[in-house]
Amino acid sequence: MLHAVAHIEFNAINLALDAVWRFSGLPEAFYRQWLQVAAEEALHFTLLTDHLATLGRAYGDFDAHDGLWTMARKTAHDPLARMALVPRTLEARGLDATPPMQDKLRAAGDTAAVEILDIILRDEIGHVAVGNRWFAWLCARDGVEPLATFERLRQDHGAPRLKPPFNLAARRRAGFTPEELLALEQGATGR
Ligand SMILES: [Fe+2]
Ligand SMILES: [Fe+2]
Repeated sequence: MLHAVAHIEFNAINLALDAVWRFSGLPEAFYRQWLQVAAEEALHFTLLTDHLATLGRAYGDFDAHDGLWTMARKTAHDPLARMALVPRTLEARGLDATPPMQDKLRAAGDTAAVEILDIILRDEIGHVAVGNRWFAWLCARDGVEPLATFERLRQDHGAPRLKPPFNLAARRRAGFTPEELLALEQGATGR
């Protein structure tokens, strides 16, 4: 499980740097904020690989999935799609997934890992917030309605419809609106 999280963080470094490199003509703050995200992802990766080393393991010891980078490729043409489907979908999924992972690690007696995930969860709220900020900015620039646009992009790119439980407190702090959270919950129950 910790190896899987390390793999996510490794991809997240590249995803943040890819947003900086790939999308041109945006405000300077876009580049500064994603560069800051990349630095924090590098810290997360290092914390996890240092901890894995204490367990006699290293990044690369296990197989890993390619879901994050697949989505990076699918959204390479469009910063709006990237913001919608990477930070606002996949990174936001991490907000939901972290507390249950911490419960498992606590049950296994790995307090150090629980503390690392505390740091990661705190920082990831900020990363999702950066995604929310630029998704809103790009929607306003293009004159499109955010909720309908998000749903269209999710369908166009075959992004998963997320299932509960949702970490609603963390999602609120990351800037999801009450309307967006309601749509998320209704989408999950198929209504
Ligand atoms: Fe991270
Ligand atoms: Fe992140």
